[in-house]
Amino acid sequence: MRAKRVSESLNVMNELVLPNDTNTFGNLMGGRLMYWMDIAAAYCASKHCNAPVVTASVDNISFKNPIKLGHYVHIEAYVTRAFNSSMEIYLRVRGEDTLHQFTYDSNEAYLTFVALDPNDKPRSVPEVIVETEEEQKRYDGALRRRQLRLILAGKMKPNEATELKALFAE
Ligand SMILES: CC(C)(COP(=O)(O)OP(=O)(O)OC[C@H]1O[C@@H](n2cnc3c(N)ncnc32)[C@H](O)[C@@H]1OP(=O)(O)O)[C@@H](O)C(=O)NCCC(=O)NCCS
Repeated sequence: MRAKRVSESLNVMNELVLPNDTNTFGNLMGGRLMYWMDIAAAYCASKHCNAPVVTASVDNISFKNPIKLGHYVHIEAYVTRAFNSSMEIYLRVRGEDTLHQFTYDSNEAYLTFVALDPNDKPRSVPEVIVETEEEQKRYDGALRRRQLRLILAGKMKPNEATELKALFAE
């Protein structure tokens, strides 16, 4: 299976915040944003492995700034690291006011997707080739984040999380 560059599956998705997407404060609803983030990340994961994928987990999402009605949402999604059948996708979300010409951070998150074979069983995925400093940083941290989320999901014992433990021991 050919290893693939991060840039090969980079996805940038843009949406306009319309009235039906907002809460009573005129801000984009968190649930709608998470829906778009899931789609943006799924596209990226599926493009990396050229297979159907399912969302296995969503890490913590903190909303720093609301995105207003009439503003644009930019979601950038790229694969940070692939394991056996799973891939971690990083998302950065920004809002843009095109009338007043400024952009602002909204939130960021890590989602994990699993590639499935025709029998809906996990199948292996290509490795990731990193090319930039930022990609390398996220690649290096991915193993620790994977261990933490698997512990929280009850799929790994804390004493097996060697890299995560080392972080606290430093
Ligand atoms: C995700 C899913 C395919 C994992 O299947 P499984 O039978 O538990 O498979 P395994 O335990 O062998 O794990 C397969 C991979 O998923 C990863 N995984 C499982 N649970 C995970 C979790 N909670 N968070 C992150 N990764 C997870 C494992 O680490 C493993 O990755 P690896 O192959 O790269 O090492 C399965 O739980 C599933 O289909 N879940 C529902 C997905 C879904 O419907 N999502 C839509 C929104 S609800």
